[in-house]
Amino acid sequence: MDYRRQYIRDLWDATPGTSAEVYGWVKTRRDSKGIHFVQVNDGSCFRDLQVVIEEGVLPEETIKQITTGACVRFCGEIVESPAPKQPIELKAKEAEIFGPADPETYPIQKKGASFEFLREVAHLRVRTNTFGAVFRVRNRLSWATHKFFQERGFLYVHTPIISASDCEGAGQLFTVTTLDIENPPRTPEGKVDFGEDFFARQAYLTVSGQLNVECFAQAFTNVYTFGPTFRAENSNTPRHLAEFWMIEPEQAFCDIEGNMNLAEEYLKYLIQDVLENCSEDLEFFRQRIEPTVIETLENVAESSFERLPYTEAIRILEKSGESFEFPVYWGADLQSEHERYLTEKVFRKPVILTDYPKEIKAFYMRQNDDGKTVRAMDVLAPRIGEIIGGSQREERYDVLLDRMKELGLDPEPYWWYLDLRRFGAAPHSGFGLGLERMILYVTGMKNIRDVIPFPRTPGNADF
Ligand code: 4AD
Ligand code: MG
Repeated sequence: MDYRRQYIRDLWDATPGTSAEVYGWVKTRRDSKGIHFVQVNDGSCFRDLQVVIEEGVLPEETIKQITTGACVRFCGEIVESPAPKQPIELKAKEAEIFGPADPETYPIQKKGASFEFLREVAHLRVRTNTFGAVFRVRNRLSWATHKFFQERGFLYVHTPIISASDCEGAGQLFTVTTLDIENPPRTPEGKVDFGEDFFARQAYLTVSGQLNVECFAQAFTNVYTFGPTFRAENSNTPRHLAEFWMIEPEQAFCDIEGNMNLAEEYLKYLIQDVLENCSEDLEFFRQRIEPTVIETLENVAESSFERLPYTEAIRILEKSGESFEFPVYWGADLQSEHERYLTEKVFRKPVILTDYPKEIKAFYMRQNDDGKTVRAMDVLAPRIGEIIGGSQREERYDVLLDRMKELGLDPEPYWWYLDLRRFGAAPHSGFGLGLERMILYVTGMKNIRDVIPFPRTPGNADF
């Protein structure tokens, strides 16, 4: 018999009586009298294909090797399935074992292994239901991001990973060096002489592509970058990674209003896209991870985000009567408990806060006329807190330079960024969406380490 290789996702409406050949990994095998039931998955969709092996069809030696984790090929006939959850199953005629997986030592034997445990076997956890669903959603969000910006004529810019400046000015930088760390060259003052280093200066892994992408906005009008970013912040929280992916659009001739509109439209587009294209995966998250997840997404896709100034938010928090761990006062940086109170208790939907005190925001944000606040905009989401950070940018040369000096930032590495304000400066705005925070939001997963393939966090860069 001639077999045609097929992916499991394409099999569900195959006609009974036709033949099929599938490749994949065994989820489970169940034996009953004279018959074996094998669940196989190839990652092409959430559902496993059930393969039925009748007594005597395959050699005993082969059956023995069809265990959880084994890599197999099955050929056979598509038949209607008596099981309610699946329209069809595969009646095996032939099987091949590519790679057995010893049941004594294969680490992912049963359902219900904890996420903590699965992080220790991150090379294998991708074969589980949960991680299959997470990474299909991640893939879809990435694709939908490009679709959204490309449909609107934004130019995709590959901003550098290695950078000489600290975009956020927060000093959470990883240094990139080829100097001998045992015995680095020293300046006469005894400091490490980065002039002798590979880039002839101290260089870092970028914390954001924003400063570079701003240059492109001043030529192509609407642009975005989408890449990995790195922060050496020692925060061991379920929402922080040392390496994460960020999507950063930047628009010339755009103020904070336009920026908020773009952010809201983009988030709703992502949600709509995932609702339409990952329904099986979302259904799994609803059943097993977070019961409200689909309902929340459907509501968000329809409702409009609440927009209010930081000062107003502080007033609400002060009047709330809640006992927060971190104190609330004008000038305080909002903690996730405050962000969650606003989004979950007060407004019950995403909230865009604007006009933060300049002291708690980055140097590049446009100053308001009050002299105290800047045109920042953070989008806060229920369960997650801050999901987007952005602003209108300071396009006035003198104001920007003064602000940098005020903050004690050395303008030298930023000379080109300042130059943008000297030659043909357009008013402009942009924001950054943390991809992993968005995945947490969309899936209901609780820990950011479980939505990136191989998480990097303090003390952990295994795999
Ligand atoms: O608010 P942030 O620091 O903003 C920027 O980096 C700007 N340069 C963006 C811009 O305007 N182009 O970071 C943006 C987003 C946050 O809202 C959050 O979603 C995510 O990036 N993020 C992190 N995600 C995971 N781990 C971390 N350590 C993160 N830090 C920020
Ligand atoms: Mg931020």
